[in-house]
Amino acid sequence: MNDNDSQELEKVKNYFAEKLETHGPTHKGVDYNSTESQEIRFSQLIKLINSNQKYSLLDFGSGYGAMYDYLLGLGHDLYYLGYDIAEPMVVQGRQLHINNPDCHFSANLNEITPLEYAVVSGTFNMKLDADFEAWTKIVIEALHQMDLLTTKGFSFNMLTKYSDADRMRPDLYYADPLFFFDYCKRNFARNVALLHDYNLYDFTILVRKS
Ligand SMILES: C[S@@+](CC[C@H](N)C(=O)[O-])C[C@H]1O[C@@H](n2cnc3c(N)ncnc32)[C@H](O)[C@@H]1O
Repeated sequence: MNDNDSQELEKVKNYFAEKLETHGPTHKGVDYNSTESQEIRFSQLIKLINSNQKYSLLDFGSGYGAMYDYLLGLGHDLYYLGYDIAEPMVVQGRQLHINNPDCHFSANLNEITPLEYAVVSGTFNMKLDADFEAWTKIVIEALHQMDLLTTKGFSFNMLTKYSDADRMRPDLYYADPLFFFDYCKRNFARNVALLHDYNLYDFTILVRKS
């Protein structure tokens, strides 16, 4: 990562810290329109997880840990690690889950050791004023980190370039689903799924490594 990349991420970090301060640990605090759209995204991402037993999960760009609460609500048994660049998200996540010994948060990627699965929800959407190519590079770097940090696979979502042109915003990143499908097939695993059928301007990719 070069200096420009870290400047872009610094802006994103401040943006989300401010959102949390204004709205608290709610869907608005992580910049979603509704809890429903937040949970529709979660439901797609967890199609990756094939487990009736306890598993471990890294949530990359976890916010305050809404994914953990969602999974607990479904009755999943898991060790959860939420990673977020915005320290206030990590602090909030820890406070909210102080009574859950299997729920942890970190703002330091270097201290994370591999887990079975990783999920990424909404993390790549807000690019602010970064240009498209620079942001694509940041996303690809994060996908490689996810590959290194998982043994069984990872899933991520992004806004789609197949959005209505008149509603697209310059501060958001609209990715090409075919580019990312191809990238994942070539670089990460033979078993890759592209889900683009759940009525949001959004797609999900599942990368199954085993
Ligand atoms: C739209 S919010 C989604 C939060 C959570 N995944 C959810 O769905 O409730 C995106 C989160 O990703 C974090 N984030 C953005 N870029 C990141 C990066 N490169 N590494 C780690 N966290 C990042 C932000 O700080 C923010 O908390």
